[in-house]
Amino acid sequence: MTATTANSERSTFNPGKGAGQPVGIAILGHGTVGSEVLRLMGEHSEAFAHRIGGPLELKGVAVSDLSKPREGVDPELITDDAMSLIERDDVDIVVEVIGGIEYPRKLVLAALNAGKSVVTANKALVAAHADELADAADAANVDLYFEAAVAAAIPVVGMLRRSLAGDNIQRISGIVNGTTNFILDAMDSTGANYDDALAEATALGYAEADPTADVEGHDAASKAAILASLGFHTRVKFDDVHCEGITGVTAADIEAAREAGYTIKLLAICERVTDNEGREAVSARVHPTLVRREHPLAAVNESYNAIFVEAEAAGSLMFYGNGAGGAPTASAVLGDVVGAARNKVHGGRAPGENTYANLPIADFGVVPTRYHIDMEVVDRVGVLSEVAAKFSARGVSLKTVRQEESGENARLIVVTHTATEADLSATVEELSAMPDVKAINSVIRLGA
Ligand code: NDP
Ligand code: HSE
Repeated sequence: MTATTANSERSTFNPGKGAGQPVGIAILGHGTVGSEVLRLMGEHSEAFAHRIGGPLELKGVAVSDLSKPREGVDPELITDDAMSLIERDDVDIVVEVIGGIEYPRKLVLAALNAGKSVVTANKALVAAHADELADAADAANVDLYFEAAVAAAIPVVGMLRRSLAGDNIQRISGIVNGTTNFILDAMDSTGANYDDALAEATALGYAEADPTADVEGHDAASKAAILASLGFHTRVKFDDVHCEGITGVTAADIEAAREAGYTIKLLAICERVTDNEGREAVSARVHPTLVRREHPLAAVNESYNAIFVEAEAAGSLMFYGNGAGGAPTASAVLGDVVGAARNKVHGGRAPGENTYANLPIADFGVVPTRYHIDMEVVDRVGVLSEVAAKFSARGVSLKTVRQEESGENARLIVVTHTATEADLSATVEELSAMPDVKAINSVIRLGA
């Protein structure tokens, strides 16, 4: 389906149920996020009814394990049959907070096809199947909301969809994963070890059910795909995002970064670049990045997230807040529930996806970047110039070179000027093949 057909389908008017009519809600999942959604929905039910124009009525809560205690939830409402719950005629909105991809995909598609609006916090699902889900929502003339999928409480999805719809986004970058930020911050500020910090982030409810998604950068890559799609009006999927996680970041890297005046953050960077054919293209990437200690991103600690948006007319905007955890995520989910419920009562639809620009996805090699390279070389006359020659042969210029003693070897710390990712990575490969280069200790890109 093209963007234009999707837009014309959106024009079908949904008249709504009428003021004062109840809106039936099904919640799929009662874990970290689902339990907070339910708690806050109960606590603020009267306020929500005013904001919506009709009361929210909870029709059921789908879980996997019926034997778990569910404090404050009517046992009659608990079911392990999510599909039957979705299919009920009195359910208007389905909230998906289960996680994973294939099973929630079936549930969300079934809900949309049955004319229910959907609110999901599931970035993995949205980043993998946004086109299919958006088509199903358009065909059924219902809403598909996913504010909580990116940076939990920070309303960046709505800001891109609505507030910045009149501007031209150039770049979106920042910290979008709470778990990895928590780990890197703990390693940097208290010297905590990686495993202990990950265990604490998991206990606090920040990590995904399988925390590999966090530490390998997959969660941040899903969020980058969503941000790039919205910001550049182009379908960017999870597989289009270059992704490196934090599992290779060592205490020694963090120490070396500190000595040089940096901290290491896992950044998601989405920007317009020029590809090999000279066309404007979209680049989305996630990787550990050296951030200057005086930069605002360096002060984003614990599980907080921060996102910079650079727009043609608005200039630079920064959004900061809780990026993970039950209550902050439930705030975003409930904002979407209120929006979807208003549309169910009064009619109309929220702005949907628009991928009219359809820009190509840039090859990672064309991306302009800078490297910080820490290596061990044989301590003999002429090594430095041989190393420098490898850089200049690829047209990479050096900003600083620092040499220190390191046992019988010399330690070289090189910071480059901007070059393409292809030239920089090829240079590192050539360096590592030099007999006098004994080890490449670390290669980290420089960012903010
Ligand atoms: P949890 O693992 O804490 O909860 C998952 C819930 O889904 C549990 O209640 C589980 O049931 C239920 N569930 C699992 N399988 C099924 C099934 N087959 N049928 C019905 N229910 C099932 O996850 P979170 O609450 O942390 O995350 C949920 C979603 O929200 C994920 O997509 C995640 O990426 C996203 N998210 C999470 C954030 C966070 O900080 N935690 C922040 C932003 C988004 P049972 O209780 O019986 O085990
Ligand atoms: N696991 C995710 C994180 C949850 O740590 O950021 C919020 O999306």
